[in-house]
Amino acid sequence: MVLAEATVAEVPPRRAVRRRRFDIVGRVVKPALFTLCLLPLASLAWGWMHGSLGANPIEATTRTLGDWALQLLLLTLAVTPARQLTGWTGVMRLRRMLGLFAFSYAVLHVASYVILDQFFAWTAIWADVVKRRYITAGLAAFLLLLPLAVTSTSGWVKRLGAPVWRRLHRLVYPAAALAVLHHFWMVKADVQQPLVLAAALALLLGWRLIAALRRRGETQRMARATPSGKA
Ligand code: HEM
Repeated sequence: MVLAEATVAEVPPRRAVRRRRFDIVGRVVKPALFTLCLLPLASLAWGWMHGSLGANPIEATTRTLGDWALQLLLLTLAVTPARQLTGWTGVMRLRRMLGLFAFSYAVLHVASYVILDQFFAWTAIWADVVKRRYITAGLAAFLLLLPLAVTSTSGWVKRLGAPVWRRLHRLVYPAAALAVLHHFWMVKADVQQPLVLAAALALLLGWRLIAALRRRGETQRMARATPSGKA
C-alpha cells in the first residue's frame, strides 16, 4: 500500500510532463519561420538602400509584396492539409502567424500602390478600381481579408463563439480565389506563375472539399446506423 502510494506520488501529472518537454514549435520552428517571413521585407529594404531593384523600383516593390502576400496566403491554407497528411498537430500553431504575415504583406502591397505608385491620387485610384478588373479583384480580396485579420485573436474567437468564427474565417477561400484572379488578370504575357498558384489553390480547396464530403458521408452513415430511440 505504501509502495503503491509512493509510486503514485512520484508519477508526475500528464500535463506537467507535457509542459516540461522541450517546446520545439514555440522555441524553434515559430521563431525560425517568423525570421524567414521577414526576409523578403529585409531584401526589399536592402534593394532600396543599394539601388538594386532595377529600373522601376516602385513596380518591383509592389510586385514583390503582392507575390509574398499571395504565397503566404496559400501557405496558410496548406497548414490544415499538412496536419491531416502528417498527423503533426504542432503545425497548427503556425497558422495564425502565417495568416497575419500574409495580411501584413497585403497591407504593404496596397500601401506601396497607394503611396509610392499613385501618391494618394484617390481619383486615379478609384478610376483604376472601376476600369481595371484586376484592381477590382485585388480590392475585393483585400476587403475579405480585413475582417479575418481583425478577428484573428483568441479574444475574438471567444467573443464570436467558435462556430461563428469558423464560418467567418471561411472567407479566406473566396479571398484567395480573388487574389489568384487578381494576379492572373494583371499578367499580360507570361501566365506561368499565376497558373502555378491557381493550380496550388485548386489543390488546396479540392482537398478540403473531398474531406468535407467524406465527413458528411460518415455522419449520414452513423445517423442511419444509430437507432432513433423512438418507439
Ligand atoms: C486594394 C487591393 C489591391 C490593389 C490596389 C492591388 C494592386 C496591384 C497592382 C497595381 C499590381 C501590379 C503592380 C505593378 O505591375 O506595378 C498588383 C500585382 C499583384 N498583386 Fe495586388 N493589389 C491589391 C490586393 C492584392 C492582394 C490582397 C493580393 C494577395 C493576397 C495581391 C497580390 C498581387 C500579386 C501576386 C501581384 C502580381 C505580382 C507579380 O507580378 O509578380 N494584391 N497588385
